[in-house]
Amino acid sequence: MDQLLIQGGVPLSGEVHVSGAKNAALPILCAALLTGDSLLVDNVPQLRDVHTMLGLLAQMGMQVAREGTAVRLSGANLDHLVAPYDLVKTMRASILVLGPTLARCGRARVSLPGGCAIGLRPVDLHIKGLEAMGATIRIEHGYIEAAAQRLHGARIFMDLVSVTGTENLMMAAALADGATVIENAAREPEVVDLAQCLTAMGARIEGAGSDVIRIEGVARLHGAQYRVMPDRIEAGTFLVAAAATGGRLRLLEARADHLEAVVEKLREAGATIEAAPDAISLEMRQPVRAVNLRTAPYPAFPTDMQAQFMAMNTVAQGTSLITETIFENRFMHVQELKRMGADIEVEGNAAVIRGKSALSGATVMATDLRASAGLVIAGLIAQGETVVDRVYHIDRGYECIEGKLSQLGARIRRVRAHP
Ligand code: UD1
Repeated sequence: MDQLLIQGGVPLSGEVHVSGAKNAALPILCAALLTGDSLLVDNVPQLRDVHTMLGLLAQMGMQVAREGTAVRLSGANLDHLVAPYDLVKTMRASILVLGPTLARCGRARVSLPGGCAIGLRPVDLHIKGLEAMGATIRIEHGYIEAAAQRLHGARIFMDLVSVTGTENLMMAAALADGATVIENAAREPEVVDLAQCLTAMGARIEGAGSDVIRIEGVARLHGAQYRVMPDRIEAGTFLVAAAATGGRLRLLEARADHLEAVVEKLREAGATIEAAPDAISLEMRQPVRAVNLRTAPYPAFPTDMQAQFMAMNTVAQGTSLITETIFENRFMHVQELKRMGADIEVEGNAAVIRGKSALSGATVMATDLRASAGLVIAGLIAQGETVVDRVYHIDRGYECIEGKLSQLGARIRRVRAHP
């Protein structure tokens, strides 16, 4: 397994380009299941999760061709309507094939994801929503077996705000008979990006970005071209890395309007931030101040940025409180940060971090995607060498992280694992 070797203590400095958003690309690639025409998706990041999703779509009978940063998908002949356990267990977002496959083909078989490192993460809301639209769903041998001659519109209230749940139901509703209203819908920018792609394919959707989305089903969708939005979590991760190292950074193709909660917290920590329409600049001219935060659905502070801020808080001035309200087990990075000398106490879903003057480099293990990003940031600020093990977690969601960080002056390199 690959490792990242980091010599800490270098303030990041320079410009870096933000890649297309993983969490927008994954549902948009699945939207191709809704039409027999071809969908051309541009600004698709080169990531393990994207690779896994393209592999799944190809297995289902979709023709998939990469053309540089674009992917052309053609689902004229879908002949294997199954998402197998082996794929779903490595990437929960595989559940996103359920809604569109069922809506277009009348059936789908998708493995239940099971537990994952950051919590239980059930898919009951996806299932309930599809049942409300007329699907018959049985759970057999660990698989969701879904069938429906044709889905019909429904009024669906989501008990919890679910990003992929909202996306799955929005895709299914696009081809249902009549109108569907999703209440308490996720408002994440990735939901809006998917809605815009579906609209380009002929779907009739109103309210994406608010908590009530109304979809008027159409008989068929057609092909389209669509460019994926920039990755707000990758952008946020680089901003925190620059702030934590006392550096200066200009992010290109970044959307500050998607990052308001993150930018506000970075300003509170002492950073000077300027936003242009397509770029964000950050400079940290003073010691970092500790910031309290509480994760919650968009537009509040994103759970996917929690580990990175915790890493920064370990060396900030003052004591901070981080509360995680989305996932029940998302403090796996704490034990690793402690091995680097951090002073953190966890009580339930809250962590108290007492800022220290420095961390010391150590060998640490990545446990999930965003926890790993937190450990890389810890390595960048620590004294001496940090080795981050199990880098495959990072490769799921960050395009060439060591390349981009090196470009900013970080001393980081990948050590290829011996077979
Ligand atoms: C998406 C993101 C992930 C992010 C998360 C929260 C993608 C591919 N992934 O994950 O990066 O961390 O949003 O912002 O977009 N829940 C249920 N039942 C359900 C569905 C969800 O109880 O049927 C719960 C989950 O356990 C969790 C909460 O709802 O506690 C939010 O989860 P959800 O928004 O669905 O996360 P994902 O869409 O899986």
